[in-house]
Amino acid sequence: MTSTRSSQLPGFYKLSIDERLKRAAAAANLDAETEAAFRKLGGLELDQANHMVENVIGVFGLPLGIATNFLINDRDILVPMAIEEPSVIAGASFMAKLARGGGGFHAETTEPLMIGQIQILDVPDLEAAKIKILERRDEILAEADRVDPMILSLGGGARDLEIRILPETPVGPMLIVHLIYDTRDAMGANAINTAAEHLSPMLESLSQGRIHLKILSNLADRRLAKVNCTIPTASLAFETFSGPRVRDGIVEAWAFAATDPYRAATHNKGIMNGVDAVVIATGNDWRAVEAGAHAYAARSGRYTSLSEWGVDETGDLEGSLELPLAVGTVGGATRVHPLAKACLALMGVDNARELAQVIAAVGLAQNLAALRALASEGIQRGHMSLHARQIAIAAGAEGEQIERVIAKMIAQGTIHIQFARELLDREPRES
Ligand code: MEV
Repeated sequence: MTSTRSSQLPGFYKLSIDERLKRAAAAANLDAETEAAFRKLGGLELDQANHMVENVIGVFGLPLGIATNFLINDRDILVPMAIEEPSVIAGASFMAKLARGGGGFHAETTEPLMIGQIQILDVPDLEAAKIKILERRDEILAEADRVDPMILSLGGGARDLEIRILPETPVGPMLIVHLIYDTRDAMGANAINTAAEHLSPMLESLSQGRIHLKILSNLADRRLAKVNCTIPTASLAFETFSGPRVRDGIVEAWAFAATDPYRAATHNKGIMNGVDAVVIATGNDWRAVEAGAHAYAARSGRYTSLSEWGVDETGDLEGSLELPLAVGTVGGATRVHPLAKACLALMGVDNARELAQVIAAVGLAQNLAALRALASEGIQRGHMSLHARQIAIAAGAEGEQIERVIAKMIAQGTIHIQFARELLDREPRES
């Protein structure tokens, strides 16, 4: 990451779309070509889309915004977020501002290790097969390394084998081989799946069993991102809510999620609001990240919160988040989608591990935004005006009508499409 960038762009939200882009491009030192990629609506030509998936008939757009104020490992990062939900980008930006007061976010990742699973059925002697495979470990890893010389040349490749026996399944016992594989800056699904398939004949002969599935695991618990931040308690105060009251309310809200899976699902959804938006903006596989995050949240056998919040020895709020993040900066849509490339350039991240650090920081910020709102005024107030805007537009309001319809709906406390239509019907006579 380059350090000359600034992510503090005061008044950014008040600018026109064009001014925002120019300001962000200047702050992130973007070249003209990258800046131009953001101007292309949807960022993807029909022809490019046609090469990505089957039976293409169009391109589906999502709003792309920038979260400001992020300071991650002492670097300023402008974070692109693709999301349809209002308040998420504003919430992340505001919480990143508060986190700056405590030194910003500190993030780290493990090595980018993915797990490829090979399922072996009808093994005559499970223990003997396990020993035989482990005896040939080095040979098996060397064989896996023959598959992708490119990843090997970049310093990745096969790292280890793990053998698990599942003694009882609905179809009887099975032997599961885990190939641990360093995919470097790729998300790595193709590399790991190819390597797992390539090892099948060897493992079949060693185990005397029948190979069935050969596929990566989305529970990427060897590829973790961890982030923490400290929020000065005084900065949490707003309106009639004191800093300590908001801080304690956040810890109480977290304790609910830490204990109750019904709450944890919603709490983690809030984290994923931030995570997914960046994962999507960078052309990564958000279903893989979602699957990994929720499986990781249930790793103890009980689904729980992915984050933790508490009070440090000086009385400030401290938060942390740990989750698997199988994301890449090379391969797949990250390089095919022009806007994904531009989003990576906007952040200035150089590799998959840095990207995972940014994503984790946004997840933690998003979680804080939700808890702060829930622990004080509730989230509806913040949502109200943007929700009203969407309803007004959906009802057919245009130009100056939009603000008038919003104001009337909010004043009446009725934000509903039918009411918006009635207001619009009355419009010509009233204005
Ligand atoms: C809404 O998209 C996300 C929240 O429900 C998260 C939470 O409850 O923590 C506000």
